[in-house]
Amino acid sequence: MKKEVPIDQLVTEMIQHIKAITLVEAKNGVIPRFNQPKTIACLNAEFRVHDDIPDEFKQGIFATPKSYPAKIRFANATDHDDSKKDMRGFSIRLSDVEGPVLWGEQGYQDFILNSYPALFVATPEDFLSFIRARLKNRKLLFFLNPFDLHLKSLWIVFKARKKHFSLFDVRFWSTVPYRLGETGNLVVKYSVMPCSDYKTTAAVNPGVHQLREAKKEHLKQAPARFHFAVQKQLNSATMPIEDASVIWDESVSPFHIVATITIEDQDFDNPESLTNCENCSFNPWQSLAAHEPLGRMNEVRRSVYAEAAKFRTKEN
Ligand code: HEM
Repeated sequence: MKKEVPIDQLVTEMIQHIKAITLVEAKNGVIPRFNQPKTIACLNAEFRVHDDIPDEFKQGIFATPKSYPAKIRFANATDHDDSKKDMRGFSIRLSDVEGPVLWGEQGYQDFILNSYPALFVATPEDFLSFIRARLKNRKLLFFLNPFDLHLKSLWIVFKARKKHFSLFDVRFWSTVPYRLGETGNLVVKYSVMPCSDYKTTAAVNPGVHQLREAKKEHLKQAPARFHFAVQKQLNSATMPIEDASVIWDESVSPFHIVATITIEDQDFDNPESLTNCENCSFNPWQSLAAHEPLGRMNEVRRSVYAEAAKFRTKEN
C-alpha cells in the first residue's frame, strides 16, 4: 500500500498544476477544461423519475415520480477531432431540485459520467502523479516509470478509448461511488444507458465535428433517450469505494433503471449555445445529501473542479 497524502495537500498541488497546464493549452484566449475539453454539445433534456422503482432506491431525487428539466454536456476527453479514438464525457445538471445542497447553488443536482466503467487510476495520489507527468509533457512516463509502473492504467486507457458514430448510442458510468439516501448505508454507482428508437450506423459528415453532426441528424429523425440506472454495492472488498479502477461486476449486482432522459430536437450548434457550454461547469458536490459523493477521489474533486472552473471562466 502506498502512503496516503492528506487531501488538502493533494488539492493544492493539483490545482497549481492544472492551472499551469490549461493555461499552456489555451487557444484564441480561451482556457479549456483540464479534462473533457472538447464540447460536442450542451442540450436541454427531460429527466423523468419512474414510479415503479424498488423502495430502497426511492431516495433524494428518486423519492417520487417527477420530471426535472436538465442540461447535458457531451464532450471528448482529450481530442478536438471527433473522428479519433477517445473517451467521452456526459455531465448532467437537473434543475427544480428541492432541498439543501452539499455545495454550490440551491436547486441543482449534478451527475458526471465517463464512457468507461473504471477510471484509469485507483487513487488521487496516482491521479496527482499523472498530472505531474502531464505538466512535464511526459504522460508516457506515468504509465511506464520503472520505479512506479502503472500497467493497469495503460490497459484501461487502451480499452476506454474508442471511435464512435454517435454519443446518443454510447453508455456512460459514474466510475466512482455515491451514497443513496441520507440514512442507512446504501452505496451505488450510476450508469446512463442509450435506449433511443433511432441508431446511427455510420459517421455523419465524417470529420472533426462528426459527433455534433450525428446528434443533429438523430434529433431530426427521433428524440434521443437514455435510461438512468443505479448499481448497488454488495461487497466492500470486490466493489470497493477507494479504488476507482475496479469495475463493479454487473453479473453480481445488476443496474436498476430509475429514470429516463429524453432529448428533443433543438438548435444547439450555434455560437451562443457553444459559448455557454464552454463557460458552464459541473461539480459532483453540487448535490443533495441523499446523493453524497463518496471516497477520497470524490473528496479531492470538490475543490479541484471548483477552482479549475473559476480559473478558466474568470480568465476567459
Ligand atoms: C482526483 C480525481 C479527478 C480530478 C483531479 C479531476 C479533474 C477534473 C477537472 C479539473 C475537470 C475540469 C473542471 C472544469 O474546468 O470545470 C474535470 C472535468 C471532468 N471530469 Fe474529472 N477529475 C477527477 C476524477 C474524475 C472521475 C472519477 C470522473 C468520472 C466520471 C471524471 C469525469 C470528468 C468529466 C466527465 C468532466 C467534464 C465535466 C464538464 O462537462 O464540465 N473525473 N475533471
